[in-house]
Amino acid sequence: MDELILVTGASGNVGCEVVKALVASGKRVRAGVVTMADAQQVPIDNADITLFDFGDPQTYVASFVGVKKLFLMRPPMISDVKRYMKPAITYAAAVGIEQIVFLSIVGVENKPFIPHYKVEKYLEASGVPYTFLRAGFFMQNLSTTHRVDIAHHNDIFVPAGSARTAFIDVRDIGAVAARVLTERGHEYKAYALTGSKALTYDEVAEIFSDVLRRQITYSRPSLLRFAWRMKQRGYSWGHIGVMSALYLTTQFGAAERVAADTAVLLNRPPMTMHQYVQDYAPMWQAPNEASSKRSTRV
Ligand SMILES: NC(=O)c1ccc[n+]([C@@H]2O[C@H](COP(=O)([O-])OP(=O)(O)OC[C@H]3O[C@@H](n4cnc5c(N)ncnc54)[C@H](OP(=O)(O)O)[C@@H]3O)[C@@H](O)[C@H]2O)c1
Repeated sequence: MDELILVTGASGNVGCEVVKALVASGKRVRAGVVTMADAQQVPIDNADITLFDFGDPQTYVASFVGVKKLFLMRPPMISDVKRYMKPAITYAAAVGIEQIVFLSIVGVENKPFIPHYKVEKYLEASGVPYTFLRAGFFMQNLSTTHRVDIAHHNDIFVPAGSARTAFIDVRDIGAVAARVLTERGHEYKAYALTGSKALTYDEVAEIFSDVLRRQITYSRPSLLRFAWRMKQRGYSWGHIGVMSALYLTTQFGAAERVAADTAVLLNRPPMTMHQYVQDYAPMWQAPNEASSKRSTRV
């Protein structure tokens, strides 16, 4: 019998893809959701659903019963990882979890100011074999956080200047996660997950214009304009701070590195921006609020 894998954030962008990829390869998955309403977002029928909330250690107990491995993600709204995530890592270690695969951020080793840096340190100290998936910027940011600007204003409103970004599709992250969770040899490793090409946002706008058959611009906003617009959309200052810091480092080239790990782990090239825009095209047909499941998240 296959070992049971607990996926946290199973209703989120990446968690959904991890669940799909594990189930597609015949593995046993338990999907962690914060509320039962979130269970509808879990992309499989008759899923083993558990209520799991980092902030409520009582939910750890039932969630971890019988579990051997953990896919761990840090919800974007959690900045205080010592308070909200360390207890879950400590609990996982105490119940003998055999591997934790953590969704981190590319270049985290040079960014001690972001929460993922601390989570990696907690994992290294936990005694549990870990695997870090250090992902680049998600293509799906353009169909979530930045969707409204594209759908309603035909504009990509991202404060990245003229820098390049080696975007990754979250479907590829899901596939990589499924592999490293179910195969030996990935313990104590860190993988940089990027696409195979680093694009400027001007180039991204060209791809959008080409695929959507309408003009999409890149207006290159300042960090201040971006922060103000995100505040008006209801984001917390903590969340805006993390996003702004990441886009600031992007302006200085921090997101441009193309790493080979994704292709090696998938045995195929990573998905392209062109493919992503084609597959998600309905997301940017304004007005389209109804289909914007996660239009307010990063
Ligand atoms: N965006 C990028 O370009 C990028 C790149 C690299 C790494 N990352 C990292 O990837 C992570 C985001 O992944 P994502 O896009 O899949 O996130 P997401 O779509 O925003 O999903 C977040 C998930 O966490 C759940 N959640 C919220 N609060 C929780 C709590 N207290 N306890 C347990 N679960 C909770 C959410 O449930 P509800 O649906 O109920 O809220 C949801 O399932 C972040 O750590 C981010 O920094 C992002």
